[in-house]
Amino acid sequence: MQQHNLKPEDAGRPKPGKLIVVGRGEDVPPGHSATVELPGGAEVALHNVAGEFYATENFCPHRGAPLAEGFLCGHVIECGLHGWQFDVRDGKCLTVDEPIKTYRVVLEEGLVKIEEPCPKSQRSADG
Ligand code: FES
Repeated sequence: MQQHNLKPEDAGRPKPGKLIVVGRGEDVPPGHSATVELPGGAEVALHNVAGEFYATENFCPHRGAPLAEGFLCGHVIECGLHGWQFDVRDGKCLTVDEPIKTYRVVLEEGLVKIEEPCPKSQRSADG
């Protein structure tokens, strides 16, 4: 007889990923963004919005400019190259219909941790 480790209510939910320490919160002041790299090689833009941290993919879907080098105003990061805007909370593009990936961020004892996505939950790179 087969045994299943998942409870029925867990079926279909993505498993939580591993939390990766990417730096200290004090290194990214409020209103600023920074580029961090996850062990799997994904480049992530870390944004500090008034002490709350958010993480998005770093490459703008328009022409690939690094979003961490853009302009952060409230919850909106504006690409520094042509001005596309994204909400860092959910990755929604406010300019066109091209959302970006977001990552869960946890701040614990001054350390910023980003949840490394499970391979199945990563967005296709062919878009
Ligand atoms: S590269 Fe970001 S708007 Fe063009």
